[in-house]
Amino acid sequence: MSVDTAALNAARHRLADDAPVWLFGYGSLIYKVDFPFVQRTPAAIYGWERRFWQGSEDHRGVPGAPGRVVTLIDSPGSRCGGIAYQIAAGVFRHLDVREKHGYLRLWQALHFADGSTVDGLVYIAGPENPGFLGPAPEPEVAAQVARAVGPSGDNRGYLLQLAAALRELGERDEHVFALEAAVLERQRSVSGG
Ligand code: SIN
Repeated sequence: MSVDTAALNAARHRLADDAPVWLFGYGSLIYKVDFPFVQRTPAAIYGWERRFWQGSEDHRGVPGAPGRVVTLIDSPGSRCGGIAYQIAAGVFRHLDVREKHGYLRLWQALHFADGSTVDGLVYIAGPENPGFLGPAPEPEVAAQVARAVGPSGDNRGYLLQLAAALRELGERDEHVFALEAAVLERQRSVSGG
């Protein structure tokens, strides 16, 4: 599979530009909303865990020095909280370019706080994509996140903004919060504070 998934995604779902579609965001799509939407609301999906296991060479790192961003890992019984947006399908032209580094759109059941569900699309970068980095010891991941920088800013900012957005949503995500603590601790020890 090519790491550039924009064309693959455009061909995956044939949707009229004005068709209303639900999108679930669990990473930067929670806090960096650079696209129009009709409505947004907290939501969750089941059977997936958020992990900093996808390499980023286009946003929070560069080729040869990738950053780490989140993807979802198949995990029966797990819950992942985020934000659901209702968008016009034409907005995927922008999103497919933004999420082009290994992410494929998948239909999933989105669960809302009132108990209702709806099918929505989720960008997931699976282990078969060439940008997938997988797990690594936490100090290594923290060091990588602390040093990586790309066209969209530093990798540290991605992590800290995601952790803050999850807290604001009332979501506990031990993986994200532990990495946040490790990166902040690293920064304190490097600056001698
Ligand atoms: C998402 O936010 O849903 C996908 C991953 C990302 O863009 O950080």
